[in-house]
Amino acid sequence: MGIKKGMTKVKVLIVGSGGREHAIAASVAKSKKVDEIYCAPGNAGIGMIAQCVPIGAMEFDKIVAFAKEKEIDLTIVGMDDPLVGGLVDELEKAGLRAFGPRKNAAILEGSKAFSKDLMKKYHIPTAAYETFDTSDAALAYLETAQFPIVLKADGLALGKGVLICKDLEEAKEGVKTIMLDKQFGSAGNRLVIEEFMTGREVSVLSYVDGKTIKTMTSAQDHKRAGDGDTGLNTGGMGTFSPSPFYTKEVDDFCKKHIYQATVDAMASEGREFKGIIFFGLMLTEKGPRVLEYNARFGDPEAQVVLPRMKNDIIEVMEACIDGHLDEIDLQFEENAAVCVVLASEGYPVKYEKGFVINGLEKFEGQDAYFCFHAGTKKTDQGIVTNGGRVLGITAKGKNLKEARENAYAAAKWVDFENKYMRHDIGKAIDEA
Ligand code: AMP
Ligand code: GLY
Repeated sequence: MGIKKGMTKVKVLIVGSGGREHAIAASVAKSKKVDEIYCAPGNAGIGMIAQCVPIGAMEFDKIVAFAKEKEIDLTIVGMDDPLVGGLVDELEKAGLRAFGPRKNAAILEGSKAFSKDLMKKYHIPTAAYETFDTSDAALAYLETAQFPIVLKADGLALGKGVLICKDLEEAKEGVKTIMLDKQFGSAGNRLVIEEFMTGREVSVLSYVDGKTIKTMTSAQDHKRAGDGDTGLNTGGMGTFSPSPFYTKEVDDFCKKHIYQATVDAMASEGREFKGIIFFGLMLTEKGPRVLEYNARFGDPEAQVVLPRMKNDIIEVMEACIDGHLDEIDLQFEENAAVCVVLASEGYPVKYEKGFVINGLEKFEGQDAYFCFHAGTKKTDQGIVTNGGRVLGITAKGKNLKEARENAYAAAKWVDFENKYMRHDIGKAIDEA
């Protein structure tokens, strides 16, 4: 199988069901090379531009069988769990083409202990750390540590396995939560204890073909649930792109010490990385440091980055798979975008679902406004809320200020019971 030379139209399957996958699907739908788009399992919004199939992202056998049956030319795996679990390997074993890292490379996101050891070995700037396999060893270490300190569950924990502890007492409680109570499941079998850093955070997403890396325009997420960065950590309440804090100087530093160094380190370890590397960076007084790696597009970073990309996404992804990304001239629009997440009141803890969403039609035919669905479902009553994060309202503008005004204006176009959003997405740009 595969994309045959001279064949212009391809059939694409996207794996995932969030706002990120909707943004990917929207980019794929714009591609001149695409014939049919499927999504497993998708959501109500994705269903407007793709055929959704009721197969879960972790049902590897069913995904492979579906891709074979439909003669899918390219499967794009959007989510971390199936990547870390080896879905790309399974697809390739069946002779199918897939975009995303194989299991042995997705470990860059799947194990924080792995990624920290990699950075240490290859001198990639990051916070100092120690790794622990037992709670006793972790507790003994904490007795002599400096505070605040950061505890990280080793494995995938829906972005929630990081605890910032202000003193010894909190840290001891944190070790219990992660390693003994197993609040994040087996992700907490190992623990990384890390130096606390301060500075502004920036996300940089990149395409990688195993050798070459091309970074996309920068973005910034807002992880806390409440205005002014208060409340609990969430999957992300909104984003803006580009980040005015990601200066040429920062970019030069990261190009020299972080981006290519990471790709080369993975290759040296026999873990060739093809797909997306998401660099979570902190701009500290001592310079940029890697906070974390992800092996996929960010959510909601994808919702502000992809709408600004000028290239045909299928061409770029094919270049990553085939190892000729160096031939691609990656280009982004010279504008800005802001995404405001509309969530269900109570997210990320407890919230109700099943409320009808009104006003979605206002986004039809718009090209500077996007309504990316995250937790939505189509029912006989119409499209209803079906998750904590419900929609991502993205708007473009000539600059960040205008994009923010547009996004907040468009956030009013839709309505549903218990609608909740932050009101300060992109406020930091006023300080820039
Ligand atoms: P991570 O999942 O590793 O990105 O961590 C989630 C969030 O925790 C980050 O976005 C930061 O806000 C914070 N964080 C992680 N590591 C550190 C650190 N070493 N120092 C300060 N904050 C951190
Ligand atoms: N927005 C952060 C992430 O996707 O992990």
